[in-house]
Amino acid sequence: MKIARSPNDLIWDRSRRVGFVPTMGAFHEGHLQLMREARKECDVVVVSLFVNPTQFGPNEDFSRYPRDEDRDFQMAESVGVDWMFAPPVDVMYPRESSTRVVVGGVSDLWEGERRPGHFEGVGTVVAKLFHIVQPQVAYFGLKDLQQCAVIRQMVRDLNMPIELRFVETVREQDGLALSSRNRYLTAEERAEAPRLHRLLSKLAEAVGQEPGVGRSMIADARAELEHNGWKVDYLAMVDSLSMKPVQEPDPDTRIIAAATLGNTRLIDNVAVRG
Ligand code: PAJ
Repeated sequence: MKIARSPNDLIWDRSRRVGFVPTMGAFHEGHLQLMREARKECDVVVVSLFVNPTQFGPNEDFSRYPRDEDRDFQMAESVGVDWMFAPPVDVMYPRESSTRVVVGGVSDLWEGERRPGHFEGVGTVVAKLFHIVQPQVAYFGLKDLQQCAVIRQMVRDLNMPIELRFVETVREQDGLALSSRNRYLTAEERAEAPRLHRLLSKLAEAVGQEPGVGRSMIADARAELEHNGWKVDYLAMVDSLSMKPVQEPDPDTRIIAAATLGNTRLIDNVAVRG
C-alpha cells in the first residue's frame, strides 16, 4: 500500500478503474466493508484519511476525534487497499482557499438543522477529494443516510462523472451500528444503545405491513427511548433521496433517528420492509 500526503503524490495509470472510499479514519468493520466492495469492483482502490475540520461545529469533537494512522494503515492494507491519501490540513485548506460547496434542499433538515455548516463542510471536502482522486466509483455508507443524499445531489448538480455506491450499515451482533463514537459509551450506555436499532427495526416492520400505524408508533418509540434515558433529536419516516418526511412508505422510505445517550450522540436508520 502506498501513502500519499499531497495530491501530486498520487500516481497511477489513468486508464484503470479507480474506486474511492473517503473516510476520517478510526477504522472499524463498516469502513473495511466499503473498502472490500471497492476492491471487488475496481482495479485501483484509493482511501482518503482526513479528519475534515470544516464539517465539525465549534462545540463538536474535532480535536478529540480518535486518530491512529498506523493502525488505520494496517487495517486498510489488510483488505487490499492500494493507496492511502492522508493529507495534512494545510494541504487541503491552504490559507487562501475560500470556495465552499452548498447543497440545498436535502441538507436542510435533520443533521443539517442540528449541525449548521456540517454538510457544507462535507460537500466541500468530498468535491475536493473527487477532483484530486478522479475516481470512476465512490463508496459511502448508508449509516449516514443524509450524507448519501447530499453527495448524490452534488454529483448530479455539478455533473461529476462518478458512479456512487451506497453500502448497507455494518452492525454489532446486538444491532448497534458500528461508529467511531461508540467508544465514548460507558458500559451501562453500551448495554442500552442497541435499543435504538431494535425500535427502528420494529417500526420499519410494522409500517411495512400496515402503513397507517406509522405516526402513533413513532410517538410510542420516542417515548420509550426517553423513558430509558435517551434525549431524542429526531425520529421520522423520510424519503431517502429528498430527505423529506413522508406519510406513506415506498421502496425509498427509511426511518431515521438521532438520539443522545449520556454525552454520546448516536444516529441510525433502517429501510422500511414492505
Ligand atoms: P467517516 O465517519 O470516517 O465515514 C467514512 C464512511 O464510512 C462513510 O461513508 C460512512 O457512512 C461509512 N460508515 C461509517 N460507519 C459505517 C457502518 N457502520 N457501516 C457502513 N458504513 C459505515 O463520513 C465521513 O467519514 C465523512 O463525512 C467524509 C465522507 C469522509 C467526509 O469528510
